Amino acid sequence: MAKIDLVKLRKTFGAFVAVQGLDMQIVDGEFLIMLGPSGCGKTTTLNMIAGLEGASSGHILFDGVDVTDAPPHERNVAMVFQSSLLYPHLTVRRNIETSLRHSKITDAERKRRIAEAARMLEIEPFMDKLPGHLSGGQRQRVATAKAIVREPSVFLLDEPLSALDAALRLSLRSELVNLQKRLGTTTVFVTHDQVEAMTMGDRIAVINGGRLEQIGTPDEIYNAPSTVFVAGFLGSPPMNLLEGEVSGGFFRRGQLAVPVTGAAGKVTLGVRPQDVLVVEPGTAGAMPVTVFAVEHLGRESVLIADDEHGAKVRALVPPGWHARVGERLAITPEPARCLLFGADGNRILEPLARAA
Ligand SMILES: Nc1ncnc2c1ncn2[C@@H]1O[C@H](COP(=O)(O)OP(=O)(O)O)[C@@H](O)[C@H]1O
Ligand SMILES: [Mg+2]
Repeated sequence: MAKIDLVKLRKTFGAFVAVQGLDMQIVDGEFLIMLGPSGCGKTTTLNMIAGLEGASSGHILFDGVDVTDAPPHERNVAMVFQSSLLYPHLTVRRNIETSLRHSKITDAERKRRIAEAARMLEIEPFMDKLPGHLSGGQRQRVATAKAIVREPSVFLLDEPLSALDAALRLSLRSELVNLQKRLGTTTVFVTHDQVEAMTMGDRIAVINGGRLEQIGTPDEIYNAPSTVFVAGFLGSPPMNLLEGEVSGGFFRRGQLAVPVTGAAGKVTLGVRPQDVLVVEPGTAGAMPVTVFAVEHLGRESVLIADDEHGAKVRALVPPGWHARVGERLAITPEPARCLLFGADGNRILEPLARAA
């Protein structure tokens, strides 16, 4: 049980600002994802929440209590890292026991917690093995068991799945979410992987260059991105982001003309590949393109094409759809599905599409 407030939290290393005045609240019991590219300040923020790293300024509150300067052991947090540190000469059971070294609990309680964690993480068969005899995924489960036996108020996970192969990542993803929902422990999970973020989080905080770009549910982040960065970072295949100009009620880029209202001047038009139609070359207002590649994904295919200005644009097409490389086509975005971003990178709210 813990609600966490980050208040104007800032971290500098010499002249370099790693975290620039982060303001956000992590709700009690939620699974919060911190998502952002490598180097954006995720680990630094997590370390400050854990108390492993001091804040340069700002505050961290747990349930309203200022813990900014409290040492890690007073915060009741447990952390799992990308590559978990297990003692190689201790069995899995002994490794898990080390987490409870400083806990003032009875032997019976200690046994109960370890048995419970082993059952939840399905590591009972190798409790008496050494870490060297386990796979990467099994080691991460042991690391997670070490974290949960402490029954912390907060779990902090720093890219715990990044070092694992794709199949294992997929299965551990749902296992971790399932475990978190059963325990109900406030969890901050750091990742640079947008698929992990979308599939695991109750909410996602998107971080870029040490700043919070947006915090919201996966649905809000995906369907109503606040900035062009968020728009481009989430979604696969990625959103098309086309720079152009609004004049006379139309977004224009070369021959492309999309009716819009509520914007003027230089803007970026964002449209997801599923909202782009392929039309006959020469269609008025459509964008002429040249086929670059077609990717078949099974349930659907993705047309990747070059526009008049050399930018790549993507459109979802039916499975088995065919086009020759170099073939000339045209595409047109669904006006009602377009987002507009201003020169400052922020979304222009309510760019109401006019009926064409
Ligand atoms: N101890 C440190 N000294 C100097 N720079 C650091 C230190 N730790 C992190 N940084 C820098 O701060 C930035 C954010 O790092 P980090 O929080 O590890 O990013 P992330 O986890 O998002 O990849 C990076 O540019 C990194 O090089
Ligand atoms: Mg990191």
